[in-house]
Amino acid sequence: DPQAKEIHKGLAGVVVDTTSISKVDPDTNSLLYRGYPVQDLAARVSFEEVAYLLWHGELPTPDELQAQNATERLQRDLDPDVRDAILALPTTAHPMDVVRTAVSVLGATDPDAENLDPDALQAASLRLFAQLPAIVALDQRRRLDLPEVAPRADLGWCEHLLYLTFGQVPDAVVVDAFSVSMTLYAEHSFNASTFTARVIASTLSDLYSAVTGAVGALKGPLHGGANEAVMRTFAEIGTADDAAGWLADRLAAKGKVMGFGHRVYKHGDSRVPTMREALVRMVDHTGRTELMALYAALEDAMAERTGILPNLDYPAGPAYHLMGFETATFTPLFVASRVTGWTAHIMEQLASNALIRPLSEYVGPERREVPERP
Ligand code: SDX
Repeated sequence: DPQAKEIHKGLAGVVVDTTSISKVDPDTNSLLYRGYPVQDLAARVSFEEVAYLLWHGELPTPDELQAQNATERLQRDLDPDVRDAILALPTTAHPMDVVRTAVSVLGATDPDAENLDPDALQAASLRLFAQLPAIVALDQRRRLDLPEVAPRADLGWCEHLLYLTFGQVPDAVVVDAFSVSMTLYAEHSFNASTFTARVIASTLSDLYSAVTGAVGALKGPLHGGANEAVMRTFAEIGTADDAAGWLADRLAAKGKVMGFGHRVYKHGDSRVPTMREALVRMVDHTGRTELMALYAALEDAMAERTGILPNLDYPAGPAYHLMGFETATFTPLFVASRVTGWTAHIMEQLASNALIRPLSEYVGPERREVPERP
């Protein structure tokens, strides 16, 4: 059968399973969560409602939202074992290693972690969602030698993450831009980290193990690590006037430009226009027009020389910078959002599970004799 020998390197173009969580349409540059356009969700509903939608398939009624929020807010106190584990790590640890360890510890402290019933999976998903802001905030603050901020139960999830990080609730324009980014980052079909989570879930391992693995997959600069790489690129370039020259050198050296290109979208990432608008609001708010000039100069030079367009990480990186996050914190912020999509996919995988176990074509030595050992 010649079909069986066809190699799909990187699984490019391969349809592995069905999903009803999100639809990525590269022809129309659109992204739907459970049927709703993501830009409309970003404009009209809270991130907690997006989380509910991804998990349950429908937007919550006011009562359903109230119940979810109440349960989430009760679980905002950082698990003491997680705090100890984070504080035991050097502040030089990669922030994604800290998040990965924290998620793993949360699994070890959940007595119900091995329970794969739908209710238990939902409870574990909400627990991760409730704990991640404290994890991300604590790690940024300890790196800056600042004391931990105690959680509050009177703030929405996005406001609360910002409060835990900065010790105060920022202006509404910052909260709104941050909330937009969380909604846009939440879910994107079978991306590398989500697929990782589904592979782990498919062995009937536990939800925390699947999310721990997903964090590892997201860390890489070809995936989630790109948002912080964008900021490092800007720092390396300097000013808008230097962008074209920097790019020429970069492409001549066959280097990748972080924040550009996408495996699925070839005519632009559906989420970029919405995130770019949020970035522009942050630029207006902070007066940092030189950053926007550099952003535009690199985008234009890249389009002119390669035709390759930005992905979500390109506007998200500088937007997080203007919100006051350290560059090293950007990918952990991606985790805090994407945990909703990962856990929705873990639940979908387990609802009609098949062990994920593809084939490979062997190209090593032919059968041979093991030599006699003296
Ligand atoms: C995310 O899958 C998802 O949905 C991911 C994501 C999500 O929400 O989960 O959208 C989040 O991961 C966004 C992507 C973040 N990564 C980066 O910004 C890193 C830089 N981008 C690339 O390395 C690249 O575009 C990828 C990894 C995103 C996609 O890679 P592919 O599909 O394997 O494509 P490729 O690397 O084979 O590129 C095709 C061509 C190559 O040139 P040729 O060898 O054909 O001459 O385009 C070139 C590439 O060199 N190219 C780039 C480039 N992206 C593609 N050249 C320079 N800079 C780039 N960014």
